[in-house]
Amino acid sequence: MRLAQRVEQLPPYLFARISEMIARKRAEGVDVISLGIGDPDLPTPDYLLDCLADASRDPANHRYPESDGLPEFREAIARWYERRHGVTLDPGREVVPLIGSKEGIGHLPLCLIDPGDVSLITDPGYPVYEIGTMFAGGETVKLPLSEEDGWLPRLDDIPEDAARRARILWLNYPNNPTGAVADLGFFERAVAWACEHDVVIAHDLAYADVTYDGYVAHSILEVDGARDVAIEFNSLSKSFNMTGWRVAMAVGNAQVVNALTRVKTNLDSGIPQAIQRMAIAALDDPRESIASHNAVYQQRRDRVVEVLRELGLHLDPPQASLYVWARLPEGERSSGDFAARLVEQTGVVVTPGASYGEAGEGYIRISLTVPDERLEDALRRLSAFAKGERAL
Ligand SMILES: Cc1ncc(COP(=O)(O)O)c(C=O)c1O
Repeated sequence: MRLAQRVEQLPPYLFARISEMIARKRAEGVDVISLGIGDPDLPTPDYLLDCLADASRDPANHRYPESDGLPEFREAIARWYERRHGVTLDPGREVVPLIGSKEGIGHLPLCLIDPGDVSLITDPGYPVYEIGTMFAGGETVKLPLSEEDGWLPRLDDIPEDAARRARILWLNYPNNPTGAVADLGFFERAVAWACEHDVVIAHDLAYADVTYDGYVAHSILEVDGARDVAIEFNSLSKSFNMTGWRVAMAVGNAQVVNALTRVKTNLDSGIPQAIQRMAIAALDDPRESIASHNAVYQQRRDRVVEVLRELGLHLDPPQASLYVWARLPEGERSSGDFAARLVEQTGVVVTPGASYGEAGEGYIRISLTVPDERLEDALRRLSAFAKGERAL
C-alpha cells in the first residue's frame, strides 16, 4: 500500500532508542520509573467529577455537541480570561473551545498555511507546531533558543526571507521543554514584530497556571494590539488535572478564531457536552485546586533540583511548567547517550533534550508528574548513580 507523503515524511520517533531500553530493562525485571511524560498524576478534583457525573445523566448531553461549543462554555472562558488576565473577550467571536489544545494547534495551520508558506517555530519546542505545518503543506523555519537568551527567540535575527514567507510565529511561555517564562516586554516586542511583518502569533499557554514561587504567567492578549495579530491556546489539561477529558480553548483574533471554527466544523463535532459542563464548573469555581496542585509540584521541583545538582547538572529552578530542564555535566555531549546510561544503570527514564530539536541537545527534561514515593525512589537511584554506587 502506498501511504501519503505527509505520513511517510513523519519524523521517526526520537524516543525509540530509550523505549527499546525500557522494554529490555523491564524484561530483566527492573522496576522502571519514567520521569519522561508531562501528564499530571494527581486526579481531577472530586467536585468536578461530581459535576461531570450529573451532566452525564442529562439527555440533553447525549446528543451531538456543536463544534463551536456551548455558548455557556464560551462565556465561562471569557469570564476566566477577564478574572485571570484582565482580558475582555467577545465569547461569540473571539473564543472557540477545543478537544484539547493539541487539536487546535494541529489544525491552526490549515487556516493560515498554503503550500510554500512558512511557520516560524522555536527549537527546542513542542513537536505539534512543526507537524501541523507539514500536514498543511507548509515549511518550518527554526528559531534556535539558548540558555543565555533565557530560551526566548531573537526576533531581530529572523532572516528577512523567512519573515516575508512566514504566516505563523509559534510561541510557548511558560515553555515546554525548557520551563522558561516570558515577561510582557517580550510579548510586546513579539506583537510589534508580527504587526510589522503581517504574521499571526500563535501563543501556546498550556502551562498558564502551573507556576511556582508566586510567579504569575501572562496571556499575550494582555498586550495592547495583540488581538490584531494573535491567537492563544489555553487548556484545562494541566491547570485542573484534566488531560484525560480533552478540553481546551483558543481565544484572540476574531478572524483566526472564525477560520479555526470553520475548519473544526468540517472535521469534528466538538467536545462532549457533559465535559463542557465540567469545564464551566472548573473555570467558574476553581477553588483551591490550582494552588494545591502547584504546591505539590513545587515541592517535587525542589527535590529534583537538589538531586540533579548532585549529578553535576546545571539548571535554574523553573518558575513554571511541569518540567525541570537541565544542562548535562561538563564533558557529556549527547543527551541521548546520557539518558540511555541512566535507564541502563538506574532504571530511571528522562527525556533527551535533542528530542525537542537540535538546540535541545546537551540538556535533559525531567517531568514532575510522578507520585511522591515513586519520585523519591527515582531520586534515590539517581543519587546513588551520582556517587558511583549501585542504583539497582
Ligand atoms: C506545550 C504544550 N502545548 C500543548 C499541549 C497539549 O495539551 P492538551 O492537548 O492536553 O491541551 C501540551 C501537552 O503536553 C504541551 O506540552
